[in-house]
Formats: sequence, structure tokens, C-alpha cells
Amino acid sequence: MTHFMLKEIHEQPDVIRELLDRSISIAFEKVDHINILACGTSLHAGLIGQFLFEQVAKIPTQVRSSSESRFAPLLETSNTLTISITQSGETADTIAALKTVQSKQIAITNGIDSTITKLVDQTIYTNAGEEKSVAATKTFTAQLVILYQLAFELAQKQLTELRLIPQQIEAILRNNTIAEIAKTLENTRDLIVIGSGINTAIALEGALKLKEATYTHAEGYAAGEFLHGPIALLDSQIPTIAIGNVGKTLDRIRANQTPVIEIPTPAIPELFSPFLTVIPLQLLAYELAILRKIDVDRPRNITKSLTT
Ligand code: AGP
Repeated sequence: MTHFMLKEIHEQPDVIRELLDRSISIAFEKVDHINILACGTSLHAGLIGQFLFEQVAKIPTQVRSSSESRFAPLLETSNTLTISITQSGETADTIAALKTVQSKQIAITNGIDSTITKLVDQTIYTNAGEEKSVAATKTFTAQLVILYQLAFELAQKQLTELRLIPQQIEAILRNNTIAEIAKTLENTRDLIVIGSGINTAIALEGALKLKEATYTHAEGYAAGEFLHGPIALLDSQIPTIAIGNVGKTLDRIRANQTPVIEIPTPAIPELFSPFLTVIPLQLLAYELAILRKIDVDRPRNITKSLTT
């Protein structure tokens, strides 16, 4: 494949398969509160983690951007577990945030022997292989696998539903018609992505991928929240990407003559759908970048990891 981003998108089924063949367990008992620190795409994985820890494991969970935690450190109880998520393991803001934490700490990282691994009580590697494209793809879905595994372990529930995910991703990759959709967006400068529930984080992640890879001003919103002001933005020049069933919001959007691109609800329980809803958004960011002749693996102004 010509670009690392596309190659890494296609590696996701195998990365997930291998992670599911590995069992993980955490060395801490009596966790009554979880804090999550991360940046960018890893922060979006953290939002999904929050959803899972609260809704599946019933453990109150806070998520904060590592850079913001300097101004508002997360509160800790005596049984708090802090999870830092970082693809590189070298992100300066996440490392700085972690150094102020008193509680037990886990790092989820792809960076073998990276700086973060030296600072935490336990490291869980994403084992995704090196990710060369600046846009994180396979490391994101690998982070998700671990967060699902942790949430189900804390809930003392079996996690079998992810077994079918790799082949379902392969089916999406095989029947990929995203290049055609990308053509309709070639001249689009502003774009909205909406999702709800666990897919709100995927709306944010899709918008981030589109921003960094295609330089489109893309904003992600929770579908219900979008009605409370942002909907005023819409006109026929601003397409909306709707992830799954976003209910009445979609009717209100259509009423504005706004072009709508629907990412269908996968035929699996919604709780597990982020693995499948994020793939078309990754592909769209890739295809649109290629159409715009952007150096997709090395977009302007950013580096693979922000170490200062
Ligand atoms: C992801 O596509 C971005 N390049 C960026 O947001 C990245 O996720 C962020 O800088 C955090 O990096 P980390 O996971 O290595 O800490």
C-alpha cells in the first residue's frame, strides 16, 4: 500500500485479533474510582473508557485532557486508579500530568520501554506494531480493546462480543465505497460529525482525523447537544456525517437542506459499535487527503508525538 495510514487502517483486524488472544489482568483490588489522562486520539479512547467503566463496571470515572489537568487536577480517593493512555508513551503533557498523581497508575501505550512505562505501577502494551502515520488509527482501536477488557474485568463479566469484530472490520474494508463519498466532499471546508452515546467519542475522533489529515474544519458533537446552538451553523454548504441512529437530530438537520452522510448502525450491540463506526471515518480522512494531494502520513504543523 502506498501510504502508511492506509496500511495501518488495514492492519486493525489482525492487531485486534492478537490482543484478544492475550489475557490481561490488573494488579489492583478495590478500585472505586477511575481517572483517565490522555491527549488527542488517545483522549477519545479515554472517553470510550469512561463510558465503559461507568456503564459496564459501574465505577465513577473522570477523563481529562492531560494539558488541562495542570489547571484542574483530577480528584483522587484512596482507591482511585489512574489510567494514562498514550500511543507513543512520550507525550510531554501526559507525562507531566502523571507525575502529580498520587494513586495507583496504569499506562496503556504502544511505546515499548517508553518514558511513561517507567513512571507507572503497571503497563499494558497495545502491541499494535509501529504506527508511522501521524494520524493514529490502529493504536486507537488497540487502546479500545484494552479498555473493553479492563471494564469487563472490573465488572467481572465475560467479554466474548469482540471476537467477531476483526472480520466485521474486514468486511467494511472489502466493501469500501468511501472514495466515492470523499469525491462529494472535495471542496468542503466545514463539516459536522454527530454521534450519540458511546459513539459521541467517535464523532470527536472522526472530526479530529478529518482536521489533521485533510485540513477540513470538522467539528464533532453529541447529537442531542448539537440542537442547542451549533445547528444554527448549518446550510447547504456544510455537510453532516451522522453516526448510527441519532434520532430527532437527523430530522432537524435534514430540514436545513444540509447534505447528510449516514454511517449505518452496525448489526452488533451498540456498546461494541465504535470499532466499526470509526473505520469509515478513518477511510474518509485518508481518501479525502489523497484527493487533496495532502502528504497524508505527515500533515502540516504536527508531529507524531508532542514531546515538549
Ligand atoms: C492522533 O491522530 C494525533 N496525531 C494526536 O491527536 C495524538 O493522538 C496525540 O498527540 C496524543 O499522542 P499520544 O497518544 O502519543 O500521547
